[in-house]
Amino acid sequence: MSADLFRTERLTRRYHNDGREVPALTDVDLRIAPGARLGIVGESGSGKSTLVRLLAGLDRPTSGRVWFEGTQITALPERRRGFLRASVQMVFQDPRSSLNPRMRVGDIITEPLRSRLLRPQLDGLDHRTRLAEVLAAVDLEPDAADRYPHEFSGGQRQRIAIARALAPKPEVLIADEPVSALDVSVRAQVLNLLTDLVAAEGLSLIVVSHDLLVVRHLCDELAVMRAGRIVESGPTEQVYTHPSTEYTAALLAAIPRIRTGPGEPGASR
Ligand SMILES: Nc1ncnc2c1ncn2[C@@H]1O[C@H](COP(=O)(O)OP(=O)(O)O)[C@@H](O)[C@H]1O
Ligand SMILES: [Mg+2]
Repeated sequence: MSADLFRTERLTRRYHNDGREVPALTDVDLRIAPGARLGIVGESGSGKSTLVRLLAGLDRPTSGRVWFEGTQITALPERRRGFLRASVQMVFQDPRSSLNPRMRVGDIITEPLRSRLLRPQLDGLDHRTRLAEVLAAVDLEPDAADRYPHEFSGGQRQRIAIARALAPKPEVLIADEPVSALDVSVRAQVLNLLTDLVAAEGLSLIVVSHDLLVVRHLCDELAVMRAGRIVESGPTEQVYTHPSTEYTAALLAAIPRIRTGPGEPGASR
């Protein structure tokens, strides 16, 4: 069991909307190996964000359990989740809403390092040194630290969000629709950056996208979600070439013709 990065058992999350029960996630059993690059795909509302928020410990399930590296996190009180806050970092869809507009970029990026919950793991890490390292890792100039988010383009803002996620030296990066809010022209750059960082930092990666081209670019494994359940999973190429459900085949058929693959026009950095 401790060999898994994540394991879930009958993971279930129901929301209540105006007295109506929404079964966002139902009985999901999932194993993710260390070093995995897993893509989670499915139509809008299929439960992708709900699942990764539960993995990151940002939400609690209605029933079922989640283990991270052998520790059951579902039962842990907040004060004992510090290791999770350091080890699992998220990048969200829209850097406009995920970056505080009133903070300087340097403070945004080092904020996770100042968290009371994270501190024990990161004692002795020099914040200025780490700031310089992660800015360089995402190809931003050192003076970006003194500026504010609105001074940057969408693609640069997502680089800032990625730098912030890298700052506490996580083991896992979870990216929920990381390029969906960006101009098509900069998507490939951000995807290539993520690919390079995952390799360079030895990260495990979980990418959520409704766009199968994005996960094909980044992931070697795929899980396909529909109506709160995983309906198909396997190696990316296998799912691509031999989808076992009509649903996956329909998702594949709906792929828009944007070019994001390595070696294709527009993919260079
Ligand atoms: N905070 C919430 N409150 C109520 N319903 C929610 C909430 N978050 C998600 N849902 C519902 O749960 C279902 C799954 O949502 P979500 O996980 O966001 O799907 P996806 O990320 O695949 O688009 C949807 O029907 C959505 O409307
Ligand atoms: Mg979502």
